[in-house]
Amino acid sequence: MADIDVEAILKKLTLAEKVDLLAGIDFWHTKALPKHGVPSLRFTDGPNGVRGTKFFNGVPAACFPCGTSLGSTFNQTLLEEAGKMMGKEAIAKSAHVILGPTINMQRSPLGGRGFESIGEDPFLAGLGAAALIRGIQSTGVQATIKHFLCNDQEDRRMMVQSIVTERALREIYALPFQIAVRDSQPGAFMTAYNGINGVSCSENPKYLDGMLRKEWGWDGLIMSDWYGTYSTTEAVVAGLDLEMPGPPRFRGETLKFNVSNGKPFIHVIDQRAREVLQFVKKCAASGVTENGPETTVNNTPETAALLRKVGNEGIVLLKNENNVLPLSKKKKTLIVGPNAKQATYHGGGSAALRAYYAVTPFDGLSKQLETPPSYTVGAYTHRFLPILGEQCLTPDGAPGMRWRVFNEPPGTPNRQHIDELFFTKTDMHLVDYYHPKAADTWYADMEGTYTADEDCTYELGLVVCGTAKAYVDDQLVVDNATKQVPGDAFFGSATREETGRINLVKGNTYKFKIEFGSAPTYTLKGDTIVPGHGSLRVGGCKVIDDQAEIEKSVALAKEHDQVIICAGLNADWETEGADRASMKLPGVLDQLIADVAAANPNTVVVMQTGTPEEMPWLDATPAVIQAWYGGNETGNSIADVVFGDYNPSGKLSLSFPKRLQDNPAFLNFRTEAGRTLYGEDVYVGYRYYEFADKDVNFPFGHGLSYTTFAFSNLSVSHKDGKLSVSLSVKNTGSVPGAQVAQLYVKPLQAAKINRPVKELKGFAKVELQPGETKAVTIEEQEKYVAAYFDEERDQWCVEKGDYEVIVSDSSAAKDGVALRGKFTVGETYWWSGV
Ligand code: BGC
Repeated sequence: MADIDVEAILKKLTLAEKVDLLAGIDFWHTKALPKHGVPSLRFTDGPNGVRGTKFFNGVPAACFPCGTSLGSTFNQTLLEEAGKMMGKEAIAKSAHVILGPTINMQRSPLGGRGFESIGEDPFLAGLGAAALIRGIQSTGVQATIKHFLCNDQEDRRMMVQSIVTERALREIYALPFQIAVRDSQPGAFMTAYNGINGVSCSENPKYLDGMLRKEWGWDGLIMSDWYGTYSTTEAVVAGLDLEMPGPPRFRGETLKFNVSNGKPFIHVIDQRAREVLQFVKKCAASGVTENGPETTVNNTPETAALLRKVGNEGIVLLKNENNVLPLSKKKKTLIVGPNAKQATYHGGGSAALRAYYAVTPFDGLSKQLETPPSYTVGAYTHRFLPILGEQCLTPDGAPGMRWRVFNEPPGTPNRQHIDELFFTKTDMHLVDYYHPKAADTWYADMEGTYTADEDCTYELGLVVCGTAKAYVDDQLVVDNATKQVPGDAFFGSATREETGRINLVKGNTYKFKIEFGSAPTYTLKGDTIVPGHGSLRVGGCKVIDDQAEIEKSVALAKEHDQVIICAGLNADWETEGADRASMKLPGVLDQLIADVAAANPNTVVVMQTGTPEEMPWLDATPAVIQAWYGGNETGNSIADVVFGDYNPSGKLSLSFPKRLQDNPAFLNFRTEAGRTLYGEDVYVGYRYYEFADKDVNFPFGHGLSYTTFAFSNLSVSHKDGKLSVSLSVKNTGSVPGAQVAQLYVKPLQAAKINRPVKELKGFAKVELQPGETKAVTIEEQEKYVAAYFDEERDQWCVEKGDYEVIVSDSSAAKDGVALRGKFTVGETYWWSGV
């Protein structure tokens, strides 16, 4: 892609051409103006890997661990390396722009996209995002930091107004973006779906033009979230450069007409077009070809090694009584739990992608054990029935199902298919499906065979945006066409799951067939936006008896030396488009964990969630690992930590409260009358639990190791507006490990306003051999470490007085572990900008 001369091109463009630049042409591409040498750009999701141009049946890619896991590495060098690999992945998919990282805030454990963001602290999120962006942009690919701003819940996310004080907005929600601007200059910003205090983010002059562009001096492209542009003139005037996706709803002819009437004036269009062209110029550095192929060239052992390293460093050892962990590879082992044989490697929504491969916890653990483990599922926790395609064979006998597309409905004589595909992931979001011969309304048959390995009742399920019916040996088992009921899957556009049951006989092979009708056949359209061709999810599994399964697990646990419970949630529970309804684990999983832990004292719980859950069994369970959604290598990373091949070094990127009621957003976490009140103000996460002195299961920054560390020799230097904190970290145990020195600052005098007890201002991770000591230095500007946002002046205020410096291995800052020092600010002052 050639370099371009922005101002020269701008002079030559007609109004129509300028306006054409200001919206996408399809889901993932911008408009090319070949006459002027302006190429089309390709965008791709997202925050934990590069999906390319297809939600449905995409080209496989490297899946990184979810945001909260990346945050838990507390390792900026590693995140920069991860970012670089994301950039290379974008190049392999011929994409110029990555739609990530995500740095919204986990106000509540229930946030559907909580897993996607880096963490609950603005410094952790901002420094982490900056590292990822530096890595991505070092390849020439541009990063898009999102979603700007206060997009912290999924409930009616497009219409909700976040009602938030300016102080909380600045100190908690905008600060991570500000730090990322300061430390990495992201190429693009994506606006949020919601509004702030009455003005939609995509047309909000105060925050787009005022704060971001003028105050922070940031110079880049602002795009809307997908279908998150809600006006023509207002959005353009406020500074929104690009409406996404295309074809435009608010720009195109409507914008041309408005400009001809001076709403907005032409110079505003010039400025928006200039931003787009400057962005195109930046993207040229990636060398990515226009409309190029999507490849899997990075599916190499080196990529696998990096993914495993990142996965390992994010895992947090929450609890390890009596040194139950690491487990022995020689002992007789039981693996139990719903997450064992599923590779739960990403959360749901636009962060989801088809990985090159994904290692299940069962496979990862089994590979390391000297004798094969025993296994039972223990409990079901799915929200939607597990993907059917992974359990079937195509008519040709390969794993998966066959999908044939027709322009005529089922029953039409002699109809011929126009497209034929084979796949295992029968979870299909058809927004970007394209076939030149497909009519507006089309149909598809999905077929596969299933052989029963025991006599059982089998349950089939269909979620659809469109219509769908499932047949087993030509007998109708599920009808999700005749009477459709809305649900919240597929970004809120599809039905609830309709299910049906059938009895199967051991050894018999059954023909499963699903008939699908594309979006225009949907009977619920009108209630919701139906993008593209619709969606379909086909799931199924054997029906089990919950209590009999738990009894079986307990009996097995008693016969084994050690037990690993693979528990957690999955992409159906933690997903874009829907918040969780409860912080409790689904089904009978809590009972399974409690009963199995009671039956065998060498029980380890491996928890795969992106955000915290209640743990009623915690006191009676000796060891717990927080393994998140760990990307392609999720099973291998879990095994590395469980058996001690990797000594865990992750630190919680968010607090784990005991109960939902303890969370400060408990009263205010859903849309009511079109708004959500951010009533906890700046007291998000540990800022609240510490201020209110409320016990949590695990505090922010917590994470154990198989070795021990000691901090010593704190020295605090404070001059020329900079705070520099140095200390020594020693590995006092007997195995190699890594420790994170976390720097917190606490105002010692009563400020003009209430302030959190202490706040994270920096961190450093250091790897140490047994007995080794290393010096660590953490630096930050005084104006950032001491400031609060003063609403009276609309500026940051650094108040004169004393500040305590606390360096510890967790926000718990226990006596005997934490080092404490002090610095003093001589005069009060105010500042703006970055
Ligand atoms: C999400 C964005 C994403 C976009 C494109 C939206 O639904 O909110 O984060 O980048 O879709 O997939």
